[in-house]
Amino acid sequence: MKTKEENARVPRHVAIIMDGNGRWARQRGRSRLKGHEAGAESVRAVVKACKGEGVEYLTLYAFSVENWVRPKSEIDGLMRLLMRFLKNYEKELHQREIRLRIQGQLEDFPVNVQKEVRRVVDATREYGAGQLILALSYGGRRELAHAARTIAREAAAGSLDPETVDEAAVAARLYLPDVPDPDLLIRTSGEMRVSNFLLWQISYAELYVTPVLWPDFREKEFKKALREYAKRERRFGDIAPKHRHSAE
Ligand code: IPE
Ligand code: IPE
Ligand code: MG
Repeated sequence: MKTKEENARVPRHVAIIMDGNGRWARQRGRSRLKGHEAGAESVRAVVKACKGEGVEYLTLYAFSVENWVRPKSEIDGLMRLLMRFLKNYEKELHQREIRLRIQGQLEDFPVNVQKEVRRVVDATREYGAGQLILALSYGGRRELAHAARTIAREAAAGSLDPETVDEAAVAARLYLPDVPDPDLLIRTSGEMRVSNFLLWQISYAELYVTPVLWPDFREKEFKKALREYAKRERRFGDIAPKHRHSAE
């Protein structure tokens, strides 16, 4: 049993920018798609590790709204891979009682992919042992524009007083308003940028960037990130607790 103090040091929600599949493949002289395939195995490994470590929510940036500019062959390959992943992986979701959710504009995807995704989302809807959230055709600015549009519509219809629009009102109109903000944001493959991911939700997330490429990011690397997180002091604007006594 972990103590209360130890539990507080486990992030409740981890969000990951899964990057570096292409570089991983290139290093091995293989096609980019082989890199994405190896990356899908990392997804399995990290979901499994979340359950073992007590992480309740895992959000994975699987396809950004910007990724649509990639060559058609890569996009087609990614769609096939997503379909295959869902088919093979559904059993594990049931076994572990994990709920699959989507964050993003699923409508952008081919109809057969939308159907398969919705089927697994519906089949796992009642599970409460953890949530796996896939960000698909996701863009942080798009999500905020969507929230603004919803607010504007409600105000125009007279059901919302513009003067009451505060942070909570915006947060309530994001794609998944019930999901707590990520505590830890991981980016693999060393790129020091956010790439339009969860712009609102990461305002106080701890950042962890590793040079490890996503297909090599398995349980051991994930646990390393959690250990690093456990050492962080989250101050949320306050002064360090150890300095409080002398300051008062
Ligand atoms: C991340 O790997 C996966 C997706 C964006 C779908 P990349 O495909 O971006 O890999 P690199 O950045 O080219 O190495
Ligand atoms: C971010 O990775 C998007 C996903 C991981 C799905 P990219 O590889 O698309 O990001 P940039 O282009 O390096 O910013
Ligand atoms: Mg990349």
